[in-house]
Amino acid sequence: MKCVISQDIKAGAKLIRDGELVAFATETVYGLGANALNPEAVAQIFEVKQRPYFDPLIVHVSNVAQLEDITLGLSERARKLVDRFWPGPLTLVLPKKKRIPDLVTAGLESVAVRIPAHPIARELLEATNLPIAAPSANKFGNLSPTQAKHVEEQLGSEIKLILDGGPCSVGVESTVIHCASESPILLRPGGISLEEIESCIGEVQIARIEDHAETNSPLSPGMLPKHYAPKTRLFIVNNSDEIPKTGRNGLLSLYPIEETCLRGCQFSAKEILSPAGDLKLAACKFFTALRNLDKAGIDNIIALRMPEKGLGRTINNRLERAAVS
Ligand code: TXA
Ligand code: MG
Repeated sequence: MKCVISQDIKAGAKLIRDGELVAFATETVYGLGANALNPEAVAQIFEVKQRPYFDPLIVHVSNVAQLEDITLGLSERARKLVDRFWPGPLTLVLPKKKRIPDLVTAGLESVAVRIPAHPIARELLEATNLPIAAPSANKFGNLSPTQAKHVEEQLGSEIKLILDGGPCSVGVESTVIHCASESPILLRPGGISLEEIESCIGEVQIARIEDHAETNSPLSPGMLPKHYAPKTRLFIVNNSDEIPKTGRNGLLSLYPIEETCLRGCQFSAKEILSPAGDLKLAACKFFTALRNLDKAGIDNIIALRMPEKGLGRTINNRLERAAVS
């Protein structure tokens, strides 16, 4: 199959209506979309991604009316989050209506929903007038795509169309908040920081990766500890003293490190995310930086831990899930 990369929304909408897959730009990462109401179409997402069926998908909608078609309504706090952060990189897990097939939600009584902000995603949603289920457009467990060519590299031979919206402006996946019961729970840190969420609705409980690893909790069955991984071994270090002195190392760091701190340690490749320490910019560049290091012919990726605040927390979460344990 020859994959077309274009901005042809009409062609994309036709494919979605015909039960086929379309990859498309969102502000977070590129998504691999299918009509969320068509189980056969959704099944192809799992096949192409090689994603296990126990990992539920996010459903994208274009407006609140469409949200009401598929969910049982919003709690007061969920409503506040919607008003403040949609359209944008926030996903809410809400009680679902029967219309949403079990395949989308891995049999759960809840569905993850978001209204994306990217014009390509919004135009596709409006042109189809359908809810679109879309995980990130990469093979399961691999790095998420933030440019059309990343999607083409991994899925180009298996899909017909990638709707190109340029490089993603957020660059990490949406923040996922469980809002289907009394107190909201942060399931996945993402493009909206915990600080911003808490300034909107007060304190939020945080689901820990370890809890999910041991019990494979039904709260978020897809929160596997190992995910988003490059092929090269990745080690997280807290400061430059911990950098190994052997092997060909590549550095992933927020700031440039002064040569004096390195004490003889050499790097064959370096990716500096933001010399000014801007964590939003760092998140935007993160997956492309990891891809570059993965192609640099090195033995180890050495990632210096980000400050545990704002989108630094999101980057650290992705690093932990990419690291050799
Ligand atoms: O930014 C994003 O969220 C991107 C773009 C394409 O929108 N999508 C994305 O999807 O990252 P995916 O499939 O890679 O991640 C979906 C996450 C998984 O961690 C999954 O377990 C969780 O959302 N999830 C989906 N439905 C859920 C549900 N009903 N209950 C709990 N967690 C759910
Ligand atoms: Mg993903």
